[in-house]
Amino acid sequence: MPELSVPGPLIVPSVLPADFARLGAEVRELCAAGVDRIQWDVMDGVFVPNLTFGPDVIAAARPHSTVAFEAHLMVVNPDQMLAEYISAGCELVIVHAEACTHLHRTMARIRDLGARSGVALNPHTPAETVAHVLAETDLVLAMTVNPGFGGQRYIAAVEPKIARLRGLIDESGYAIELEVDGGITADTIGGAAAAGADVFISGSWMYGYPEGKAAAVKRLRDAALTGEAVR
Ligand code: DX5
Repeated sequence: MPELSVPGPLIVPSVLPADFARLGAEVRELCAAGVDRIQWDVMDGVFVPNLTFGPDVIAAARPHSTVAFEAHLMVVNPDQMLAEYISAGCELVIVHAEACTHLHRTMARIRDLGARSGVALNPHTPAETVAHVLAETDLVLAMTVNPGFGGQRYIAAVEPKIARLRGLIDESGYAIELEVDGGITADTIGGAAAAGADVFISGSWMYGYPEGKAAAVKRLRDAALTGEAVR
């Protein structure tokens, strides 16, 4: 199993913009570009309008990757398929707090199944939602768009929540990654990093970068470090 990445800033692409007809090659290209992990945006067409892929597609891509996989479950009932996403090769599974009646139990079950646990918060969901599950948490994801589609505009109004989450994490003393996802570009990543994020999901900007993915990864990492420097 590939080692999880070293402390941030971590640059993690979403495969949402990839050519799904050549996913193995796309995953190899992302690894060659120097990404730290790869995120699989799992959408069920209910929690979010869009519909993407399940564990079988992720499992098919797994042999092509030298980096860890994370599954971002934008689904109404994440508990029912946790084991399948982990068996498919996801070392980190992220559920939405808004989809979990018993979030504490779900986070503990992800760890019991052998993966690292992540919890995502939609832009409207308060940071305090995770205050009582940090002991069960390896990653908090602050969505900087409303989930469901790539290519959306970054919601800068989430930055105070990112800062609040950074405070909660630092006060807890737990080694918890703080990830942001949605509209992350070289122009927006600095604000998210300055607010306290250390893991950055990029889809459309990275895939559309004229100089290619490796240059995009370097540009994002440099911009994140600059943002952190002003923190
Ligand atoms: C939304 C998705 C997107 C994707 C990244 O549900 O989670 O945020 O990962 O998309 P971009 O980088 O194109 O905003």
